[in-house]
Amino acid sequence: MYTKKIQSSRWSPIVSLIALFGMVLLSLWNTGAAVSAEVPKGEHGAAEMEYQSRLLNRLQPSVDVSKTPAGFDSVIWQAFIPQDNALMPERVSLGRKLYFDKRLSADGTVSCATCHDVTRGFTDQLAVSEGIKEQFGHRNAPTTLNVALLQTVFLDGRSPTLEHQAKMPITNPIEMGMPDGQAAVNAIKNDAEYQAAFQKAYRRQVNYDDIGRAIAAFERTLIFMDSPFRRFLNGDENAISSEANQGWVLYNEKGRCVTCHPMNPSNPLGNRQSFS
Ligand code: HEC
Ligand code: HEC
Repeated sequence: MYTKKIQSSRWSPIVSLIALFGMVLLSLWNTGAAVSAEVPKGEHGAAEMEYQSRLLNRLQPSVDVSKTPAGFDSVIWQAFIPQDNALMPERVSLGRKLYFDKRLSADGTVSCATCHDVTRGFTDQLAVSEGIKEQFGHRNAPTTLNVALLQTVFLDGRSPTLEHQAKMPITNPIEMGMPDGQAAVNAIKNDAEYQAAFQKAYRRQVNYDDIGRAIAAFERTLIFMDSPFRRFLNGDENAISSEANQGWVLYNEKGRCVTCHPMNPSNPLGNRQSFS
């Protein structure tokens, strides 16, 4: 009876299909408009640098670099900071400017924040990262949040410090594509603001090693440890959902994630720093 009724009205499935299609289109258009109104996009799918910088101001109105970040032992924290790059506000603000500066790339379209985008959790949320000239690499960008706490950097641990790491993407041919460090220095060394900022931060002229140092100093302020999961580990059992709780059991038991990602106070990111 019911089937017959549907069959008898030949047009209704088509009409509902069209209506459905229209609704889907409308909702896509709506969300598209909402997203683009909210996050203005620049090159390579990243949010515009200005927008990212303003968002970071909101996330982190100020950081007192003379203080150890909350929840950390000050001796351990100091051990992460190289002798020749003590944290100073002048270094952090210089590094922050460099982090968002696309002039450090060969075609002026890519900055660190292109792939480590504030609006996307300081990652690119791509399967593999996109650098200059629409070239793709072999890995995606892990977050630059909390990288201050890594003992080795990169997914295979091939870089020993943030200072060392920060100079690598600039001369990587598929990321920022500068032929060498001097080319990056040349791109900014006539900018009076940078000249003054390098003098204030390191008492030297614009140079490549200090570009790496300043970016590393800035990255050391990107500490975001307060999370529901952290509160859960600290004893608040209701801080995470029951699904997340089940995931935590899997993580420690059947999934065996914990063998390579032990979570404890001296290893807060669950990163064993061993790559075998
Ligand atoms: C074209 C995209 C791209 C650009 C531009 C880029 N990165 Fe990355 N970044 C990546 C990818 C991909 C990886 C992972 C590579 C690997 O592990 O081999 C990475 C890894 C890192 C890591 C290591 C994170 C970890 O968990 O070990 C840090 C820190 C980092 N980048 C900082 C920077 C800084 C600072 C800049 C600017 C000077 C920058 N990146 C520019 C794509 C990019
Ligand atoms: C045999 C060792 C091993 C096991 C087991 C393992 N991992 Fe990993 N995992 C690694 C290595 C090595 C990396 C890349 C280097 C790094 O970030 O430490 C990694 C990276 C990751 C990352 C990316 C981290 C980032 O910075 O982007 C996540 C997320 C992750 N693992 C989750 C898991 C989960 C969930 C499990 C359990 C289902 C698991 N891993 C089991 C070794 C392991």
